[in-house]
Amino acid sequence: MNTPPDYLDSEGWLRPEILATLDAEGTDIHRLCTPLGAPESWVERYGNDLLICSRDQGEGDALLAAFRRHRDEYVDHGFAVARIFLKPLRQRPDNTPFALLDGDAAASRVTTCRELGLRYKIDLGAGYSTGLFMDQRANRQFLRSLKPKRLLNLFSYTCAFSLAAAAEGAETVSVDVAKKALDWGKENFALNQIAGTNKFYADDVRDVLRRQQARGETYDAIVLDPPTFARNKQGKVFRIEDELASLIEAALPLLAADGYLLLSTNCETLPAEALIATALDAGRKSRRPVAPVPALPPQGDIPDGHGAQTAWVRRE
Ligand SMILES: C[S@@+](CC[C@H](N)C(=O)[O-])C[C@H]1O[C@@H](n2cnc3c(N)ncnc32)[C@H](O)[C@@H]1O
Repeated sequence: MNTPPDYLDSEGWLRPEILATLDAEGTDIHRLCTPLGAPESWVERYGNDLLICSRDQGEGDALLAAFRRHRDEYVDHGFAVARIFLKPLRQRPDNTPFALLDGDAAASRVTTCRELGLRYKIDLGAGYSTGLFMDQRANRQFLRSLKPKRLLNLFSYTCAFSLAAAAEGAETVSVDVAKKALDWGKENFALNQIAGTNKFYADDVRDVLRRQQARGETYDAIVLDPPTFARNKQGKVFRIEDELASLIEAALPLLAADGYLLLSTNCETLPAEALIATALDAGRKSRRPVAPVPALPPQGDIPDGHGAQTAWVRRE
């Protein structure tokens, strides 16, 4: 078994002292446990709620029992545990709400939680996704440090990257085929009282990229975080392995000189090195060369190799 990083105990639970560090940076959405012996199940925290994501009943039961042993210590360090939910990772239709294992069944499943000082609407009753992908916190922090003037957020979901950039004064364009996700994004902007120029296009990314290029738009940061697999209303299939290179080629003309592009995927056959190699190749082909950006330090609650594969490149 791997040695756990020093912020995790020997069973993979976040050391309770880390909660104070996270609280100080304004974060209460984070991974709480990554069991090193059963890496396909894990535990997440959303404000005062706990979500056990488990591959099978046995691992879910074991994580619940282990959490009960850790609970008092977490409470002492500021995590006022209100409810415990279970999300089975297999054999489950997308829209089934998570099972409530402990806590008030009448309380609203829609809450507001924090990441890096920004407020996000979280819905533990919405189905498979809660509204924020917590494994992107380090990338959002890096994006904020770049202080981009214009961000193009492709496959934006609930616009978390857009909100992060807008908090630093960026104009943003969020693109997602799901209008519901963009409406959720608008709620996130409202929660943080962020005004400015923020556009939301409910459309296919590939069509938006064509239109943006025709208009000569440019951005100093672009986020490209496509799904691994999707099927549109006409039944047309999207597979990241087939589409990544052409998506990058279509995005590069919109990236300003010295601009940064984030590539992200959950597709297991596309590790960070493959994302970078595809981007370098696309840059050469389109005569818009890019250079890799050194990997960011791990975000301090999720061990390396867990969470999405991501890489930044910079337009030369
Ligand atoms: C992996 S999520 C993106 C997560 C997001 N970047 C974040 O960090 O919160 C993928 C999103 O792509 C959207 N999507 C899938 N196919 C699309 C397409 N062809 N054009 C635009 N959006 C698409 C889905 O609706 C979904 O919200």
